[in-house]
Formats: sequence, structure tokens, C-alpha cells
Amino acid sequence: MTSLSTPLTISVIGCGYLGAVHAAAMAELGHRVIGIDVDKAKIDLLAAGRPPFYEPGLPELLTSATASGRLTFSTDIAAAAEATVHFVAVGTPQRAGSNAADLTYVDAAVESLLPHLSEGDLVVGKSTVPVGTAERLAAVVSGAGVGATLAWNPEFLREGFAVKDTISPDRLVYGVGEGDEHAESVLDAVYAAALAAGTPKVVTGYATAELVKVSANAFLATKISFINAMAEVAEATGADVTQLADAIGFDARIGRRFLNAGLGFGGGCLPKDIRGFMARAEELGVEQALSFLSEVDSINLRRRGRMVDLATEVLDGDVSGKRIAVLGLAFKPDSDDVRDSPALDVAVRLAELGAIVVATDPEAVETSRARHPELTYVSTAVEAAQDADVVLLLTEWKQYRDLDPAELTSVVSGRALLDGRNCVNPVVWREAGWTYRALGRP
Ligand code: UGA
Repeated sequence: MTSLSTPLTISVIGCGYLGAVHAAAMAELGHRVIGIDVDKAKIDLLAAGRPPFYEPGLPELLTSATASGRLTFSTDIAAAAEATVHFVAVGTPQRAGSNAADLTYVDAAVESLLPHLSEGDLVVGKSTVPVGTAERLAAVVSGAGVGATLAWNPEFLREGFAVKDTISPDRLVYGVGEGDEHAESVLDAVYAAALAAGTPKVVTGYATAELVKVSANAFLATKISFINAMAEVAEATGADVTQLADAIGFDARIGRRFLNAGLGFGGGCLPKDIRGFMARAEELGVEQALSFLSEVDSINLRRRGRMVDLATEVLDGDVSGKRIAVLGLAFKPDSDDVRDSPALDVAVRLAELGAIVVATDPEAVETSRARHPELTYVSTAVEAAQDADVVLLLTEWKQYRDLDPAELTSVVSGRALLDGRNCVNPVVWREAGWTYRALGRP
């Protein structure tokens, strides 16, 4: 724990992924934190040091923060009255039947806070919102007439690295109201440890802060779809997209990170954020500026179809009645999140085509089962591969990247590995007598 010259009392409204990590990290930094959520079951688990989702390092952080007395949880929004800084970290999911973000929870959180605000309090939005939301909510907060103000402070944490990304962010962005110097100094006190460690800070207006968040995710999504578009071309020409990525990645202006071709992006952020961004651009009359994001989305979704086609091809044109082992269900390794997961989507599509899918994942079996109870789930790669006609590697967990083909050779019925994440060495598998196929590679 870093010792702080001015520890603050902070409330965090919404203890989902973002809020739970933020609350624990702020307590770790020395602040007194009250985590608030309407879901009692979630609050009980967090208070017991057991996050309701998988995130490396978070159970330890929750346990030490609650034991120190600096972190408490409540289902009662009135508990926020003790705090002077209030982070709003509720979800902004994609609205049903539309590309736009659903702001119901953000609006409700801010409304419910109003009676508990005092002079000088700062409400800080963390949720990803359409540009223009902060300005609207700033008026709601000032309308309460108690002298509280609002700032927007987007979050850039990655699942799997959420604790590290929150305690040591690569940048801090403060969107503050015009002339609100108080907001900047309060956020400086919140993030004193990161600032002392040299973290760069950008102080700007609301609109820029909101746009920083969605444009960063749009750029990352575009980078991934760019390399997956190259994979499509590679497939038509016999080129190898992984070598292509290495070669262009040596150009420091391009960079090798986020150029891993494969099944593409999923999760609770990139897909919904690019769609929400397009919907907002349309409302603003600048839809042409973001029309390329619709192509980014299409390229991304096409990769899932290509994986199903590849499995069909390897199974002589028909997957029906064939046994398919699926290794990996989470949208990425070190997570149990299956929201818009490319891996789970491919598994479900193959099952719908009549294949006997046996799936496994180190952490995401239960989250997958909750959404798709019709699939068969097992605990290990070897169990999944039992009598399989083909093995699909769809999420690059370390234990799958490190698999020794010999472990599966004796149990499978057909030695064919389809690498949906370009994450194992083809030479090793081919030398072990396996057919190796991947996206974007000969
Ligand atoms: C993403 C951003 O990376 C974070 O900066 C942001 O804060 C977060 O969304 C958010 O808005 O909350 P996350 O969704 O945790 O973080 O996951 P990423 O690491 O970005 O991966 C997203 C997807 O892209 C995964 O399905 C991953 O498998 C895929 N991916 C990533 C690729 O297909 N290729 C790559 O080279 C990299």
C-alpha cells in the first residue's frame, strides 16, 4: 500500500467488472472506499473477498482491502453520503434491437446519488458513454443545487490485467467542466500514487474525454480487423498472415501488438463500443466519418463463419454427427467472460449444424453453460478430445498454447487441429502426425 498524504472517502456506484476492480484498487491506494450495488448477492460475495467473475489478482486485493477496513460494501445508495468523490461505474450495454448504448443504468445511478451529495462533492463518470452524455449529466448534478460538480474519467483497463491497469494506468484522462479547477485537484488526489509514478495526464473537456474512450476502442478494433482482412487475402493467395504481421510490426509506426489474426474480437467492450459509436455518429450527422467501422464489424464477424467453414472442409464437407472438441470458450484468455465470445459463437454454430460439440475452458465453462446449456462441457482438453474427429483451439489460454500433441494423439479419432488463434507451432503438430490448419495461413 502506498501511503497517501490526503486519503479521500470514495463511493463507487456499480460493482460489476469495472466498479469492483476500481473500488478495490482505490482502497489499495490508501483511500476509504464504499462499493455500492443494487445486487445483494454480488455485494455479499465481494465483501467476502470473492468476486463474482474471474480476474487474476482481484480476490487477493479484495481480501486485503476489506481486512484493512478501508473497503466496505453496501446495497444502500445512502452510504454514498459519507464520500466526497463518487465514481459511477455501471454498465452501458448495447440496447436491444439497436446499435446504441443503453444509458438507463447511468442515468439511474446519477439520479439516485443526488439526494446524498454535498457542497464540493465530485461525481466522476467511468462508464463508457456516447459523447454528449457528460454534459447532460453535469446539468443534472448542478441542478441538485448543492454545489457538487461532475467529471468524466474514462477507464482503459483490460480484462485479465484489470488490477494492474487500474493501479498503474498508462494514462489518465480527466474530462472536466469549464473552469472547474476543483475537479482536477480532486482527481489528482485520487490518483496521487499514479501521478507520482509519472503517469501522463490529459485534462480536457467532457466531449474529448468521452471520445478518447470510444476512439481508443475503435482503433484497437480496426487494428484487429485490418490484420484479419489481410488473413482473408492470405487465404486466397497462399501467404502467411502471421509472418506478414511480424514483418509489418517491425515498423515502429505500425507496431506488432494487436495484430494477432484469428477469430477476431469479442467481449463486453469492443463490439458494443464500435456499434454505439456508429449510432451516436449517425445522431450527430457524421455517420460517414465512421462508416468504416461497419466494415470493421463485418470483417470481424466473417472470421467466425470462416472457422465453421474450415471445420466443415476438414470434416469432408459435413459436420453433422461428427465429434468436435472445442478448446477455449472465453472471449480471451485469463477471463471467464463469454459476452459476444467468438469461441462460444463458433461452438454454438457447429452444434446447430448437427455436430457433437464437446467444449472446455479453464474458467468459462459455467458462464458458457448459463448461456448455452445445450452444449456438452468437460473439464480438460484431453476429455474434450476423447474420440474427436477434429480439435478446435478457439481461445489461446496458456495451457492450450503449451499442449503437447502427444497428450491428445492417443485419445482423438482424427488427428486434425484447427488453430483459431494462430497460437501453436504448426511444425510441432505436423511432425506429430497432425493435420494443422489455421486462419490466414497455408
Ligand atoms: C478492451 C480494451 O483493450 C481496453 O483498453 C478497454 O479498457 C476495454 O476494452 C474496455 O473498454 O473496457 P478487453 O475487452 O478486456 O479490453 O479485451 P482486449 O484485450 O482488448 O481484447 C478484445 C478482443 O480482441 C479479444 O476477443 C481478443 O481475443 C481480441 N484480439 C486482441 C485479437 O483478436 N487480436 C489481437 O491482436 C488482440
